[in-house]
Amino acid sequence: MTTTSQQPDYTTDRKTELIDLHPPAADMEQLVRIGLNRCPRQLPAWFLYDEEGSRLFDRICEQPEYSLTRTEIALLDSSAPEIAAAIGEGVIVEFGAGSAQKVGPLLEAAHPAAYVALDISAEHLRKATTALQQRHPRVPMLGICCDHSTLSSLPEHPLLRKQRRIGFFPGSSLGNFEQDDAIRVLRQFKQLLNGGPLLLGLDQPKSKVRLEAAYNDAAGISAAFARNLLHRLNADLGANFDPQAFSYQAGWQAEQQRVQMALISRCDQVVRIAGERWSFQCDEPLITEYSLKYSPERAVALAQQAGWRWLRRWHDPEDDLSLHLLEPTD
Ligand code: AVI
Repeated sequence: MTTTSQQPDYTTDRKTELIDLHPPAADMEQLVRIGLNRCPRQLPAWFLYDEEGSRLFDRICEQPEYSLTRTEIALLDSSAPEIAAAIGEGVIVEFGAGSAQKVGPLLEAAHPAAYVALDISAEHLRKATTALQQRHPRVPMLGICCDHSTLSSLPEHPLLRKQRRIGFFPGSSLGNFEQDDAIRVLRQFKQLLNGGPLLLGLDQPKSKVRLEAAYNDAAGISAAFARNLLHRLNADLGANFDPQAFSYQAGWQAEQQRVQMALISRCDQVVRIAGERWSFQCDEPLITEYSLKYSPERAVALAQQAGWRWLRRWHDPEDDLSLHLLEPTD
């Protein structure tokens, strides 16, 4: 006698749907002009992440000096059951999901109604959600290609309808925004989550020696990551930077509680970018990125300024980084 199962067969290929909101391409030329007219000169951190930059960032995460990614993955692994109980039921919405490598333990422990990944790159989303869907065939998934920092609401979709939304923003990516922008981004998330909570991963201040080593590893991957920005400008904007004419520096700025990463001009030089000529003086810095570190107290204050109430945090045994749980204040 054959028996028929009442359970849907989730082991067959469940296809992850992708909604492409076609975020407008940024005007890189204009952003470069604005950035090079700043004092000191500074370019948007996201310029670092072209294909080669994303590959180099993955290698940074493997360097012994850069423990952030490994520590957060271990923390998510060990705390997933507790986090799952605290975040409650609903749909997990991950901001800037990238390769979506961190959400796995939460999907296992929380059994969310669905997982929704937001990312600016449709290609990344397709790859990431396809791989994740294979590992978690029971969780319905949706990818939304968008710029989550400017999006005012999530699109209408059956997976999101009438569901409580639980935001997930790991990796201390918020640390790459300066304070005012970080507040703006957290306010934006509040709007997108419709009253739901947010689980926010933030790295904490630690010794200058450790931080400077983490952002200037002995293998030179961090330096290559920063110099790749110049290769990108050469390729995308017809610039003629000589990346070796710039040295790389990462310095902890205690007052601002941040690591500053910069390329320093080794000599007086003139560079052509999109038909314009720019002079760089010897020793002049071009800031490629900041990485702000938040003590638990500063994380609470940041959340409050953006309209969130801090509920609790999970941290690793060394207390190097935290996953903060926030709920909207109104
Ligand atoms: C993505 N972000 C959290 C990294 C950080 O630690 O600030 C970016 C990074 N840049 C150089 N190393 C790591």
